[in-house]
Amino acid sequence: MNIILLGPPGAGKGTQAEKLVADRGMVQLSTGDMLRAEKNAGTDLGNRIKAVMDAGELVSDEIVSSLIDENLGRLQASQGVIFDGYPRTAAQAESLDGLLAAHGRKLDYVIELEVDEDALVERIVGRYTCAKCGAGYHDKFKQPKVAGTCDVCGSHDFKRRADDNEETVRTRMAEYRAKTEPIIPIYDARGILCPVDGMADIDLVSAAIAAILDGK
Ligand code: AP5
Ligand code: MG
Ligand code: ZN
Repeated sequence: MNIILLGPPGAGKGTQAEKLVADRGMVQLSTGDMLRAEKNAGTDLGNRIKAVMDAGELVSDEIVSSLIDENLGRLQASQGVIFDGYPRTAAQAESLDGLLAAHGRKLDYVIELEVDEDALVERIVGRYTCAKCGAGYHDKFKQPKVAGTCDVCGSHDFKRRADDNEETVRTRMAEYRAKTEPIIPIYDARGILCPVDGMADIDLVSAAIAAILDGK
């Protein structure tokens, strides 16, 4: 099964992908994570995209589509994919169709996380992740079971994203509205768009997604 998780910054794409990976053995392909890895590694590509990402603007379609192509090439046919944060423009949506065909895959569902913009800033400025294993947390909405200790790997080391400040979040939201929202009707027309209430508690959102994937 191959799905897209679609929604604005802070909608819960990464949170829900993490859960699907744990529960169903699917593979998360997050272009944001791939780009941050390049940035942190200080590769040529990383240095070129740093300013764009830190400003909250979109990296070029060619770069992200080639990252997706590369990553799809490493997977086995039996591994289901969650596209997290990709596609984000009409050009990327078109590229994805070509890439899926080239890799012998088809898109099953596009899960749209519907959220109130007002809540997103609070979600994003409160977010942090484990520096060792990447597990995601929130100051208020998803605290570790033992304060200061990662539930998954026991690390005490956490980090926050450079673009998780209120000003950059506003730009990221504007980019979403201008470039990503317009691709939603493409998937609606194909009959694979599944809107989910992203304002519900994390576990309820997960249950709604599970019901869709299980055809209930
Ligand atoms: P990317 O990393 O994709 O960031 P984003 O789209 O802005 O989305 P986020 O990761 O911020 O939010 P999320 O939906 O994953 O929310 P999360 O689950 O963490 O992209 C970053 C940048 O990379 C872009 O700005 C761009 O520059 C570049 N880029 C990436 N892909 C690109 C592409 N395809 N094309 C061009 N450029 C690209 O949740 C947020 C917080 O809320 C967490 O703390 C979580 O615990 C909490 N939370 C989650 N769900 C709930 C809930 N239901 N209730 C309460 N709290 C919740
Ligand atoms: Mg994310
Ligand atoms: Zn950890």
